[in-house]
Amino acid sequence: MKFDVLTLFPEMIKSCCGCSILKRAIDNSVIEVNTINPRDFTQSKHKKVDDTPYGGGAGMVLMAQPYVDAYAGVEKLENSLTVMLTPQGKVFNDTMSNEFAQYDQIIMLCGHYEGFDERIREIIKPTEVSIGDFVLTGGELPALCLIDSISRKIDGTLGKIESADKDSFSNGLLEHPQYTKPRNFRGFEVPEVLLNGNHAEIEKYRHEQSLLRTKLRRKDLLFCKKEGKKL
Ligand code: ADE
Repeated sequence: MKFDVLTLFPEMIKSCCGCSILKRAIDNSVIEVNTINPRDFTQSKHKKVDDTPYGGGAGMVLMAQPYVDAYAGVEKLENSLTVMLTPQGKVFNDTMSNEFAQYDQIIMLCGHYEGFDERIREIIKPTEVSIGDFVLTGGELPALCLIDSISRKIDGTLGKIESADKDSFSNGLLEHPQYTKPRNFRGFEVPEVLLNGNHAEIEKYRHEQSLLRTKLRRKDLLFCKKEGKKL
C-alpha cells in the first residue's frame, strides 16, 4: 500500500511514520508513505499557497493551483483512491478502513487552518473524509489516523501478537477488558474465570463482557448490528 500525502507540513507526517509499528511496516516495505508539498508547486514568487476569500470574510483559502498541480504530479496506480481530509466529509469508521485497505494507493489531500478553494474539489473529485465532528487545525492528524488504521489491516503490518481480529469494532463490538500480571494489584483482583485455563468458559466470559461494555458505552453499535447495517 502506497500513501501519497499532499501537505504543507510534511514533517508532521514523517515524524509520526518514523515511530513504532508504522516505522516497522515502512522498513519492511509493507507500506510506503510519501509526502508532496503543494508549496513546491506554486507559480507565485513568494511561494504563496493561500489567499483571501472572494466575497469577503475572515481567514484565508487554499489556492487551487498549487494543490491541483501537486496532485497532477503524483503517479497514480490503477487501483488508487483519492481522499480529502475535511470536517465536511463522511465520518471515518472501521468499515471504511477495511474498504480503503483494498486499494494499492491512497492519495490524501490535507488542508491547514483554512478551507480549500472549491475548484480543488471540482477538479480532483476526492472522496471527502472526516475523523469526527470537531475541527482540527489541519488535515495532517486525520491523514495519520487513516494511515495508521488502514495499515493495521494490511498483512505484515501487525505481528501475530498484535493481531487485529480481536480489536474493538472488528466483530462489531467493543473489546472485553484485559488483564496481565500481577494477579492482585493494590487489592484489585483479576477475575477468577481467566485463571482457570478453561478456554470455552474464558471465551464465553469475554463475549459477555464485550456485549455488556458495548451496551453500556455504545448502544448505537448494537443497533447497527441488529439491523444488519454496516458500522
Ligand atoms: N480537518 C480539520 N478537521 C478535520 C476533521 N475533523 N476531519 C478531517 N479533516 C479535518
